[in-house]
Amino acid sequence: MNSDVFVDGVFLRGPADWWRQAVIYQIYPRSFFDSNADGLGDIKGIISKVDYISSLGVDAVWLSPFYPSQLADGGYDVDDYRDVDPKLGTLNDIDELTAALHAKGIRIFVDIVPNHSSNLHVWFQEALRSPAGSAARNRYIFRDGRGANGELPPSDLVSHFGPEGWTRVEDGQWYMHLFTREQPDFNWDNPEVHEEFLKTLKFWSDRGVDGFRVDVAHALKKQLDPLPSRTGYDLSLMKADGTDELFDRDEVHEIYKDWRQVFNQYDPPRVAVAEAWVHPNRVPAYASQSGLGQSFNFDLLVAEWSAPAFHKVIAENLKTAIETGSSSTWVMSNHDVIRHTTRLAIPGYGKSGNGFAEENDWYINHRFENSLDLQLGLERALAATLLILALPGSTYIYQGEELGLHDYVAMPDHLKQDPQWFRGEGKFKSRDGCRVPLPWDESQPAYGFSSVLPHLPQPDWFAGQSVASQENNADSVLNLYRRAIKLRRELEGAEELSWLSSDSKSFSFERPGGWVCVTNFSESVIELPAGEVLLSSKRITGEIPPNCTVWLKV
Ligand code: BGC
Repeated sequence: MNSDVFVDGVFLRGPADWWRQAVIYQIYPRSFFDSNADGLGDIKGIISKVDYISSLGVDAVWLSPFYPSQLADGGYDVDDYRDVDPKLGTLNDIDELTAALHAKGIRIFVDIVPNHSSNLHVWFQEALRSPAGSAARNRYIFRDGRGANGELPPSDLVSHFGPEGWTRVEDGQWYMHLFTREQPDFNWDNPEVHEEFLKTLKFWSDRGVDGFRVDVAHALKKQLDPLPSRTGYDLSLMKADGTDELFDRDEVHEIYKDWRQVFNQYDPPRVAVAEAWVHPNRVPAYASQSGLGQSFNFDLLVAEWSAPAFHKVIAENLKTAIETGSSSTWVMSNHDVIRHTTRLAIPGYGKSGNGFAEENDWYINHRFENSLDLQLGLERALAATLLILALPGSTYIYQGEELGLHDYVAMPDHLKQDPQWFRGEGKFKSRDGCRVPLPWDESQPAYGFSSVLPHLPQPDWFAGQSVASQENNADSVLNLYRRAIKLRRELEGAEELSWLSSDSKSFSFERPGGWVCVTNFSESVIELPAGEVLLSSKRITGEIPPNCTVWLKV
C-alpha cells in the first residue's frame, strides 16, 4: 500500500486517499521518551525513536497534544494552539520530527482541541480582564448567575470531570466548561473563534502536518437559550436527532464544511478524524467527505468479548462507512480507556452494553490486578488486534499496546494526575493507568524512559515487557505486531469483506485475494479451515485454540 508515494524517499505528495486503510500509531508525548532528563517525554525523545516507530510499519503517527499547557487535563487544556510546550520542545523540533517521519514514509497527525482552550489562553485572560458583555468575553460562554446576587450558577450543569459545569469569576459572572474549570468552552457562534481555528489548521498544514484528530468534535455548537442543564454525560442522556442542546447539533457540520475547504487547499488534501461520541446513526455526518472525512468508531471499546457482539459492531460500521464514502476506523485502546489487555480480563466486561460504566465500576471497586486473569486478557487482546488489522478501514494503535502492556491498575492514588479521578468525587476511573511512561530497556533507570523519576510511576512488571526484552524474541508481542502490520500491507486489497461464517463462538471473513481471518472468541477449540496459515495470535496445532485469531491464505 502507498508504495508509489515516495518522492526522493520523502512523502511529499501521494494519493489523496492514503488514509483509508492506514495504520496509525498514537503517541502520548509526555509518556513516550524523555530526552532531557526532566521526567517528561518530549519531542526530541520522539525524534530519537523514529527508527523504532518505522520498525512497526505504521503509516502515520498521531500526537496527542504537545501545546503549551498547565496539564490540568493532560494537555487537552491548550494555552496556545500554534506553539509547543517549552517542557516538550520547540516548533523547530516539531518540524524536525515531521521531516524525520516523512523521510521514513510516515505521516503525522496533530490533535486539535476546538471545544475549549485553557484558562491561560490569551483570549481567556483578556476575557477575565474585560467587562461583562465585552467582545473578549463573547469568545467564551459567560453568563450572569441566578439567585438574588447571582450567586447560583446560571444553570444546573455538571462537567465531565466533576460537579460543576460553571465557574464564577471575580466580577460575579460565570463561564461554562464541559470539562475542568481550566478548560473554558469557546463560543462557536462567534465568527472570530471560527476564523482563529481556520488559521490554526492552516498553520499546521503549512508546516507539513498531514492530518488532524479533532477532539470532542460533536460539542462545538450549543443551544444556549435557554441555558442547558445536565446531570451526567451518559450517551443515553443525549438526544440523537440533532436537537440536543449541548452535543451533536446539526449546525456543527457548517464548521467542518469550512475546515474541508482548508484541507482541500493542500496536495494531498489534509485529512481529519472526528472524536464524536454520538449515536451510530449520526456518525455519517462527521465522516462525510464534505466534512471531516472520517470519524472514530469506538464501539469495540465497549463491546463484550463475544463473537455476536464483535460481529454486530463490525457489520454495522462497515455499512456506515460505505454509506458515507468514508472508511471505518478500528480502535481497541487509547489514552482515555483501560488498555484492552486489561479490559478484556474484566469478568463480564461489556455484557450490559455499557462498557464505560462497567469500567468505572470495576476500577473503583476492584482496582487490584490480582483480581484479573491477565494472561487471558492478553490472549484476547492479541486476538482482537489481529482481527481489527484484517478489517477494511484504518486501524489505530495506542503506544505500548505493541508491547502487550497492561493498565497500571494499582497505581497509588496520590501519584495520579487525571482530573477525572480526583475531581470526580470517586465516581470515575483514573486514566493514568494507560498513560504510564513506556518501558524501553529494563536495565536502565525508569526502564529506559528517563534518567530521572518519570512524571507518572511505572509498575515493577514493566521489566519483562520492555522493548529491549522483546526485540530479539521472535515470539514477543512486539514482533507479532510488526509481522501483522507488514503482512496486512502486503495482503491489503480493495476495501471489501465477505462473511464466511458466524456463530456464537466465532466468525470468519475473507478479504480480496483469498485472505481469510477467523477469530475464536470462545473458551474451546474450533476447527481450523483449510488454507495456508499466515499468522496467528497464538501457537496453532491443527485446531484454533480459545481466544485466538488466525489469518490464512485460501
Ligand atoms: C480527550 C480527553 C480529554 C477530553 C477533553 C477527550 O475526548 O480524548 O483526553 O480529557 O477530550 O478535552
